[in-house]
Amino acid sequence: MFTRAVVRPPGKSFDGGLTSAEMGKPDFDVAVEQHEAYCRVLEECGLRLTRLAADDRYPDSTFVEDTAILTRRGAVICRPGAVSRLGETEEIARVLRLDFTRIYTIHEPGTVDGGDICEAGDHFFIGVSNRTNENGATQLARFLAELGYTSTLIEIRGLSNILHLKSGIAYLDDSRIVIIDELKDRKEFSGYDLIHVNAEEAYAANCLPVNDRVLIAAGYPGLQRRLRDLDYDTIVLDMSEFQKMDGGLSCLSLRF
Ligand code: GLY
Repeated sequence: MFTRAVVRPPGKSFDGGLTSAEMGKPDFDVAVEQHEAYCRVLEECGLRLTRLAADDRYPDSTFVEDTAILTRRGAVICRPGAVSRLGETEEIARVLRLDFTRIYTIHEPGTVDGGDICEAGDHFFIGVSNRTNENGATQLARFLAELGYTSTLIEIRGLSNILHLKSGIAYLDDSRIVIIDELKDRKEFSGYDLIHVNAEEAYAANCLPVNDRVLIAAGYPGLQRRLRDLDYDTIVLDMSEFQKMDGGLSCLSLRF
């Protein structure tokens, strides 16, 4: 069960962030409203929020998930793979030190974006992407091993349609993984119960289990129906402005 989360609203510089989406510029006011709705839902799920102030120095800093990996046994401060995001970890590290005693840090030349890390019980999938390099992935695997977790590296650099591993998969529970077509045949996921998301609904693969609910982006009825058929209690959130900036539901919080 999660009891806490760290969030940060988008700043005025949000539309200057990194994106490959080609969906136009996000509307700042709508993004702030959508972020607030997201925060309210996390609170409804029972989480107490640490709300950081918007930071205009870092246009992508609302995507706090990329700055750290949080586990029950300790935290890892990431080293984001985009130069423009490197400074985002400073304040996050300060905040996490208040709650975590065991903290590791990814060091140069390693890079890790939290969006590439998918926790699946006591196992972690680590995406090796255009943001998370092999050195960073190996450092992280070692830290996780010291915390008592196993991990598997997943090569995703050949996939042009996802930024991070969690753009394409979400671990629900009971060994269930929501997964896009391009990843469903990977041997690393054999043995899991896979919920396929078709190409038209690929963005929805970044859904977010929070305690007994599953948050899902609005506009993806196929996945929503499938999850409801499996008895998941879903909450639908409009993510349009974050999608324009390559962001999804998991990206907007650090949960613990
Ligand atoms: N806009 C999110 C990222 O590229 O990191």
